[in-house]
Parts: sequence; structure tokens; C-alpha cells
Amino acid sequence: MRGFAEGVIDRPLTVAEQVANILREAIASGALKAGTALRQDELAERFGFSRMPIRDALRQLEAEGIVSIHPTKGAHVARMDGAEIAEIYAVRELLECEALRLSVPVLAGVKLEEAEQALDQIDVERDVGRWGALNRGFHLLLYDACGNRRLLGLIEAHHNAADRYVRILLSNLDYRGRSQNEHRDLLAACRRRDAEKAVSILRRHLREGSETLVNAIEGGGLSRKS
Ligand code: NI
Repeated sequence: MRGFAEGVIDRPLTVAEQVANILREAIASGALKAGTALRQDELAERFGFSRMPIRDALRQLEAEGIVSIHPTKGAHVARMDGAEIAEIYAVRELLECEALRLSVPVLAGVKLEEAEQALDQIDVERDVGRWGALNRGFHLLLYDACGNRRLLGLIEAHHNAADRYVRILLSNLDYRGRSQNEHRDLLAACRRRDAEKAVSILRRHLREGSETLVNAIEGGGLSRKS
């Protein structure tokens, strides 16, 4: 059986990864707003690094859809779309609550163990890229026994669509703590085979994630909650 954490290698972060993490956190905190120019020379000076790792960090964030790089104007924080986030999360709620409801009564104990390991790893993981993968792994493990591969395929597609937003969301330490508490409550309900409770926790978890993100995109900071 393939473990969720396979391929996760524990190694020190490169300078480029450290810079990418700092920039993601600055976007998540609202310190860097959508459209803000990210000049390599300014960033190099501010961080005290050479331009090479800065350029690599910006390319990494571009691949994640968080930064846009224009051939002549350079890099800036990508535009984010609050309406798109709300739509993706509304569909996630429909699909994932149904998959969870079907899966919980028949979910194998080994999947629950793997889900718990994913949460333990999120607690100690420093790299945001890996948080995203672990978070996705945790959710998918709980839906594993839903018995409908098309449903799982749709869920994965919407995780992919949400990926850049989830990375930003998870870069916010305050949100990450709340999210982990919700994950633990969700797992406990699954262990008790209480599908109804599990579904209500998941629904709240997804709505809170969506609202937190939309506030960040439209209000300029994940910390501010209205
Ligand atoms: Ni989650």
C-alpha cells in the first residue's frame, strides 16, 4: 500500500525555498498585496542574499500561481479572485461532504492511521509546499472508501484548482493552528464512525477556509477576520 507521505524527504530548506516561504507568508499576512511589484534587486538587498536564489524563489512562486512574471515589467504578486475562491470552495463542500458521508462507515482503520500521521507531519513540517501535499493527503484519505472513483476524481480536480489559494491560506500561522484543530476533531468523529458529525465539521472547516481566504484577497490580510 502506498503511504501518503512517500517521497517527502527531510532535508534543510534551500535559500530559494526560504525566500519563497517568506514571500508566501507576507502575501498571507496582507503585507504584500496583489499587484505589488517584486523587484529582484530590492529583495536581494532586503534579505541579504544574492539575486540567484531570489530569482529561483520567484520562479517557484510563479509555478504555484502566486506570482506573475512579465517578460519586461518583471515579477508582481498575482491577482487573486475572491469569486473564484468562493465557487471552488462551494463545489468542494458539495463533493467532499458527500464523499465523507459515504466513506466514514466503511473506512479502513489503516487509512485513519495514515490520516493521523499526515496531521502529525503537518505539525512539524516547515515547508509550505509540503503542507499543501500533506493537507490534501489527509482529506483524500478520509474519502478513500466512498466507493466512487469519479467523485474522487472531481475532488482531486478541485483541490488542484484551489492549490495556490490553499498554499497562501496555510502560510498563515494563525489559520494553520485553527485548521489543525478542526482536522483533529474531524478525524476523531471519523474514528467514532459518526458520519453526521464528521460531515458537519468538514462543512464548517471548508466554509471557514473559504471565508478566511476571501477576506484576505478582498480585505488585504488573512489575520483580519470580519
Ligand atoms: Ni483541511
